[in-house]
Amino acid sequence: MTQDEFDSIFDEAYLEMYAPRHDPEQTEAEALGAVSVAEVEPGTAVLDCPCGFGRHSVVLARAGFTVTGADRSQVLLDEARRQAGDLELELVQADYRELPFEEASFDAVLNLFTALGYVGREGDKQALGEFRRVLKPGGRLVVETMQRDRLARIFEPRTWDRLPSGFVLEERSFDQAEGTVRGSFIYIRSSGERLEYPYTIQCYTATELVEMAREAGFSKVECYGGWEKEELTLDARLVLVAS
Ligand SMILES: C[S@@+](CC[C@H](N)C(=O)[O-])C[C@H]1O[C@@H](n2cnc3c(N)ncnc32)[C@H](O)[C@@H]1O
Repeated sequence: MTQDEFDSIFDEAYLEMYAPRHDPEQTEAEALGAVSVAEVEPGTAVLDCPCGFGRHSVVLARAGFTVTGADRSQVLLDEARRQAGDLELELVQADYRELPFEEASFDAVLNLFTALGYVGREGDKQALGEFRRVLKPGGRLVVETMQRDRLARIFEPRTWDRLPSGFVLEERSFDQAEGTVRGSFIYIRSSGERLEYPYTIQCYTATELVEMAREAGFSKVECYGGWEKEELTLDARLVLVAS
């Protein structure tokens, strides 16, 4: 059920609600930070999964990496193609629980901007197992995500944002025992049209994600609080590096 909810969000609506909110400089810092903690150089093969509308993939292709972007949403992949223009960038529609790539295809796999939590714990473990399978020996997975301990501190039941195309209001509740956020995006276009997208997302503690990565076959798992390998604190987004 959760995946269906997200499929309807990661569509034209996501492009309207999220694309204008991303700062290109920050996106570039995230993409370059991720390959830096993965310790890969231009020329190596990087899988950006899920790549969404390709904002990190495009930066990395431009920087000389051999990039494959994979995502479930064809609408977002089409936008990634448009943004990539003439850049060499392979874009593949795929579910990360079953990736259509050979074993040992990539030097690094990037999973950025809270891109787990949609398919339940078993589904996420399956995805982590797939990331492990397609990584070359010694290759690294980088997961960058909201961690539950931070969310518990900063949780807000209601927020709103003004966009060029209207307003996005978000209402949410947090189940402390389950670690789930149940919420709704309410998107009010400037025309007055009102769209509502309910969702449920699982938010993991660093401890849970480390355990899941180990269960998925990674032997070395480290957690940081930023791209410079800062110490992980309760105030930081989680950067997990697994090999
Ligand atoms: C929060 S967005 C992040 C996208 C991208 N990493 C970024 O930073 O812009 C999450 C993405 O996950 C994709 N997604 C959701 N479930 C998926 C699945 N089961 N397999 C592959 N991609 C999925 C969505 O289509 C969406 O593009």
